[in-house]
Amino acid sequence: MTEMIIVGAGLAGLRAAEAARKADPLARITLVGDEPMAPYSRPPLSKAFLQDRWDFDRLLVRPMPWFDAANIALLTGRAVTHIDREAGQVVLQQGRPLAYDKLVLATGSRPRRLVGPDIDHGCVQVLRTAQDAQAIRAELARAASLVVVGGGVIGLELASSARAMGVQVTVLEAGARLMGRSVPMEISDWIGQLHGRHGVDVLYGIQITSIQRCDNALRVVTNAGVFMADCVVAGVGVTPNTELATAAGLRVEDGIVVDESGRTEDANVFAAGEVTRHFNPALNECVRVESWQIADRQAAAAGSTAAGKPLVFDEIPWFWSDQYQTNLQVLGSFQRVTQVWRRPGASANSFTLLGLDGGERLVGAVCVDSGREMSVLKRILATRSPLDSAAVSDPAMPLRDILAACQAMATP
Ligand code: APR
Repeated sequence: MTEMIIVGAGLAGLRAAEAARKADPLARITLVGDEPMAPYSRPPLSKAFLQDRWDFDRLLVRPMPWFDAANIALLTGRAVTHIDREAGQVVLQQGRPLAYDKLVLATGSRPRRLVGPDIDHGCVQVLRTAQDAQAIRAELARAASLVVVGGGVIGLELASSARAMGVQVTVLEAGARLMGRSVPMEISDWIGQLHGRHGVDVLYGIQITSIQRCDNALRVVTNAGVFMADCVVAGVGVTPNTELATAAGLRVEDGIVVDESGRTEDANVFAAGEVTRHFNPALNECVRVESWQIADRQAAAAGSTAAGKPLVFDEIPWFWSDQYQTNLQVLGSFQRVTQVWRRPGASANSFTLLGLDGGERLVGAVCVDSGREMSVLKRILATRSPLDSAAVSDPAMPLRDILAACQAMATP
């Protein structure tokens, strides 16, 4: 009987366990995580959970009785400190080592910290775990003002939630635009205006010099002046938790290097979710992707593969963000885009942006309150056929017809 240990009890660890159980009904599966709670969904942490509209139980991906029914041992609050590949064991901070035949690393990422000698980290919150969200929620309940450092997904969702809680918000972004890592300029501008309409001050090109408590407030000193706030949260990106893998001598290149099925170079060790740098056949490159989709889908492929039924993860990267009443969905990447087309959506404020590469192929798309178009866009992108720009620029031409044309072209 195969003994499988999965390290990391977030969504990726859980999905790996589920897929492993499906692939091998007899395997002994243990899911070990250092957080005190069962696997939960992180996207609501910056939204419904932060605003106290959802309680914690609603975040649980599986209710507790499910683990017994699936015969998956869940060890929470248990940190793994070491992997001994020769002995086939993982060492825990407390308790006896756990032996494995197959090991899956699903250790996720952690928030980056601001750096600088004058940053008092006790004054700066980050948002990654349910405990982080609870701490921020408690501060915001008493706060009149919030400074958010970083204008990425986390910072902007937090800004939106704080406004809903009646808190005044200033966003300090180091770069020249919002969500710069993941969306094109047109969308950054649009998001900037959205936050402006909701009364958020967004400042760009900001370097933080110091963050200190000053009487009853927090004092944020920057190259553009001093900002006082009751609460400061940094959302300045994440770092993959690769330390265990590195110490175990596995290949790590800003993410644990795995193939399209989650295999490392060690036939008994696999990696799942955000911590991986995985080969994606649809992109034909190795990528580290920070998103719910990776924890959900790449991890399932890795778990099934680890249990002896290889599966390939080859989806185009996709993520969503909810800010105020607006839903943004982003597909693919705009890095190689040479033409952008904006198509109006079904309602006045909705639209879809299509990004085409030099070969007129769709490589990226953003749906603003037009998420229903996403499934067709995914299929258009997958055909890798050039698009007819006259059709793309015609708002009356349904995307389904564009898809049909692409499919006809892709068929030999
Ligand atoms: N000062 C101000 N801004 C900074 C600084 C800094 N010292 N360092 C980085 N930034 C800015 C970046 O320019 C970027 O706009 O912080 C933003 C970070 O954005 P993301 O990389 O999107 O990271 P974050 O918002 O923290 O989200 C972390 O959580 O929900 C997931 O998928 C999401 O991967 C993302 C992760």
